Amino acid sequence: MDKLSIEDMAVFCKRKGFVYPNSEIYGGFSGFWDYGHLGVELKNNIKNEWWKYHVQSREDIVGIDGSIITHPKVWEASGHVESFRDIMLACSKCREKIRADHFIEEKLKINVEGHKAEEINSIIKKNKLKCQKCGSDFDDTEQFNLMFKTSVGPKEDKSSVAYLRPETAQLMFADFKLIVDNARLKLPFGIAQMGRAFRNEISPRDFLFRCREFEMMEIEYFVHPEKADKCPFINEIIDTELNFYNAEMQEKNEEPKKMKVRDALKKKLISEWHAYWLATEQNWFTNLGAKAENFRVRQHLKEEKSHYALDTWDLEYNFPFGWKELQGIANRTDFDLKQHMKFSGKDLSIFDEETKKKIIPHVIAEPSLGVDRSFLVFMFDAYEYDNKRDNVVLKLHPKLAPIKVGVFPLVSNKPEIVKKAREVYDLLKIEFNCKYDGSGSIGRRYARADEEGTFLGCTIDFDTLENSDNQNFRRAQKPLVFDTLKDKSVTLRDINTTKQIRIKIDDLKETIRKLINNEMKFEEAGKLVK
Ligand code: GAP
Repeated sequence: MDKLSIEDMAVFCKRKGFVYPNSEIYGGFSGFWDYGHLGVELKNNIKNEWWKYHVQSREDIVGIDGSIITHPKVWEASGHVESFRDIMLACSKCREKIRADHFIEEKLKINVEGHKAEEINSIIKKNKLKCQKCGSDFDDTEQFNLMFKTSVGPKEDKSSVAYLRPETAQLMFADFKLIVDNARLKLPFGIAQMGRAFRNEISPRDFLFRCREFEMMEIEYFVHPEKADKCPFINEIIDTELNFYNAEMQEKNEEPKKMKVRDALKKKLISEWHAYWLATEQNWFTNLGAKAENFRVRQHLKEEKSHYALDTWDLEYNFPFGWKELQGIANRTDFDLKQHMKFSGKDLSIFDEETKKKIIPHVIAEPSLGVDRSFLVFMFDAYEYDNKRDNVVLKLHPKLAPIKVGVFPLVSNKPEIVKKAREVYDLLKIEFNCKYDGSGSIGRRYARADEEGTFLGCTIDFDTLENSDNQNFRRAQKPLVFDTLKDKSVTLRDINTTKQIRIKIDDLKETIRKLINNEMKFEEAGKLVK
């Protein structure tokens, strides 16, 4: 099957209730999307898994949840007021506005991210590029600040201007002292935060890939400035294979190379800390079912780097529209802490017990990941069209599956079956996100569950009533659906294989728990009936 396009994915997400165009009844609103019932469940699972892996299961990282609107000085100190800009092209005739680097990349297949306005102007003129809407010339480029402005308080003037945060990172610097003192952190350590961010993108596109409102999951990882070259955790990921594409390889027009971190370090292709975080992040994705062959790690070229970055690597994903940034991992040095010290006049240094000196820690790595781009990765890698079943199957990792168990009465016109199915649903819903579905043929319901990424189907049939309060009803029924355990058992169906096992209701919760946590193979969880 051909690779699914991003447009196909948007259509699928809308049809199944994962994501809708924002305010569609008014024609939509470019760059804004609304998550539907299944989408919000999947997104919450992604965020919960991220938090568990990066914060709750580590002793060296603590979390915060800062406000979206913050003191405007924060954005002056961070450099966003001055430098968080894209270069915009405006048509001299129809006034169509587009982002210059994307336009040039599309037309000339060259990467001009980070180029100065004059360089962009000269590339446009040299290559005689025209407005794609009306064919006219462009005006000279304009710088465009991506921060959304708002006004705080009843008076709207210069003094009330504030910004919606364009990244979650800054409060981890502004609140640095409070966090470190409360958590009694010792270097190296990290601070994590996730939440909404806003960027007034000139040309939002590719569905959830480039939005104006999105969510981020970020870590600022601090080290002692004199211990910035050694990562104490490197052995945890030393044998992870990554697809490396450093700046030199790009400059020489070479292809990316797959190799173990161990070998990349020997060749001095990458620093220990960047290797550690890139491997850790790719492992997070692949542990949750994403496909390793769709990832590569690419170093930023000199001109691409943000104003604060000494070195940046992206974890890239092979989207249907090419290899693109999924997660940026920048070495921000002590840029931010120093800037906030300068602008606030407060001391943000910490006391180093070992050297008995005050130091300003360095952010050796800032793993910064978009929730919405992660959502796309998991959707693309889970999506399959199954010819035999003749429907889409969304093979999401059970921990991400929006619905863990679909509960189905085999028939909906037998009150005893419906009653039992309701009982099973009530039993399971306390612990697992379940969906009761009693309408349509059982085949149709299985197909619906496949498309929604429901991990398990639990069917209540005539045999389930055996030895229950409905012996008389059971005897009246023919034929038997499964000639197997006739003792209050149900059928569990695995979305990945369509295999079915028979399992006692008493064992259901424990079995589902183990299957979700991959502590048990499906075939071993009960008696295989199909
Ligand atoms: N604090 C660092 C920072 O903000 P970034 O590379 O600008 O770095 C980090 O953004 C991540 O946020 C990206 O790798 C991407 O996953 C996500 N992201 C950035 N802009 C986005 C947008 N307009 N729409 C959706 N996700 C976006």
